[in-house]
Amino acid sequence: MESTAEAPRSGFWWGAATSSYQIEGGVDEDGRGPSIWDTFTRAGDHIVDGSTGDIACDHYHRWADDVALLAELGVGAYRFSINWPRIQPTGAGPANPAGIAFYDRLVDALLERGIAPAVTLYHWELPQALQDAGGWSARDTALRFGEYAATVAAALGDRVALWLTLNEMAVHTVYGHIWGMHAPGQQLVEDPFPVVHHQLLAHGLAVAAVRAHSRAPVGAANNYSPAWAVGPDGKQDSATDEDRQAALLYDLFHNRLYTDPILTGAYPAGLEPLPGSHRLTDPQLVRDGDLATIAAPTDALGVNYYNPTGVGAPSWPGPLPYDMRIITGYPMTYFGWPVVPDAFRDLLLSLRERYGDALPPIYVTENGCAYEDVPGADGTVDDQDRIAFHQSHIDALTQAIRAGVDVRGYFAWSLIDNFEWAEGYTKRFGLVHVDFATLKRTPKASFAWYRDHIRSAVGAGAPSTS
Ligand code: FCB
Repeated sequence: MESTAEAPRSGFWWGAATSSYQIEGGVDEDGRGPSIWDTFTRAGDHIVDGSTGDIACDHYHRWADDVALLAELGVGAYRFSINWPRIQPTGAGPANPAGIAFYDRLVDALLERGIAPAVTLYHWELPQALQDAGGWSARDTALRFGEYAATVAAALGDRVALWLTLNEMAVHTVYGHIWGMHAPGQQLVEDPFPVVHHQLLAHGLAVAAVRAHSRAPVGAANNYSPAWAVGPDGKQDSATDEDRQAALLYDLFHNRLYTDPILTGAYPAGLEPLPGSHRLTDPQLVRDGDLATIAAPTDALGVNYYNPTGVGAPSWPGPLPYDMRIITGYPMTYFGWPVVPDAFRDLLLSLRERYGDALPPIYVTENGCAYEDVPGADGTVDDQDRIAFHQSHIDALTQAIRAGVDVRGYFAWSLIDNFEWAEGYTKRFGLVHVDFATLKRTPKASFAWYRDHIRSAVGAGAPSTS
């Protein structure tokens, strides 16, 4: 398929992304401590296929093969995350040398191939010991995170090209701490705002820690999902005023709650209908100086985009004052997510509109789709639907860039099929197919397409990291 749009400007990073728990395995090796995802996957029936990340893609042992795949793909950058309890098994104290050594080797191998390392410090793997001490409800967790960030930055800060502090604080709060569908499986329905505030504080402390060791851009990686008011039939036309009101609340809670404080130094107004939001006026929680710490200047904003969310007025007294509704009238991925590239363009434009000069350069740190991906007789996957997804979203991105939004990179989620949280191994997002029985990697048709796209696009090379 030919790109309909000219490629973004030279120096743009075409990349691919993964996260540690989703691919590494090796969960008990070389002094790694347990994280909340180890605990969560082993207890109860939280994961649809009963699986864990104990082995995942075995990237911990096969990382060199995966770096070779990245090189073959021709990416300019690779986003991966660091497993906190590999570095600090209990979330405090000196670094575990074997943990540092693993990421040290990975970073060097990437640089040898001309691939810029983009590091996420937290992709939801809290050391279990910190969870036992209160998790993100406890202020101490944010302080520990600042120390952990300093440890990693001291070790890798001379070579990392982009830092992402915390991944998708909104998703971690709602799925992990309100609905309980993700680790740590809490349902802090009445009092989730300490989890919100302490993650933001952790972000601010990590920015300062990284700055002390690195000149590379740093920012948070947030999930953004445009809130579409829809009626019970999933159509925008049938939305009522109450549905629109609910969509505004969703937009505040999901899209603005983590971005406003970082970019403007203040929590957004209008959060009152959300249970427990009065805590944000509690000086014990939001202490003097916290908002200044959170609003430390950043020079990157990670944008993870998948789909718009259908929102309607609550039909029952659930934990949140809105219902999520299925958007109808669009193609859907295998996850049931509507495919709406225009919403991606509009999101990027709306970030620029909302934050103006306060908006740092954007890096699209995740964009991708799950499809069934059944291998053919020859073992290959002809995922034309994934190719169309990425092509249409890259076209939307290009439109936003032409309209003046400063976007500097696009990371496909994901390099390889992996452990998709509560969905286990049932949702495949990779450009590379993984047979989870043998762990064999087989590039899909989308891999060849993305490789050709990168080749023909201007400047896939990694800029200097010095
Ligand atoms: C995002 C997560 C990422 C992956 C994709 C599909 O919310 O950040 O780890 O699971 O969804």
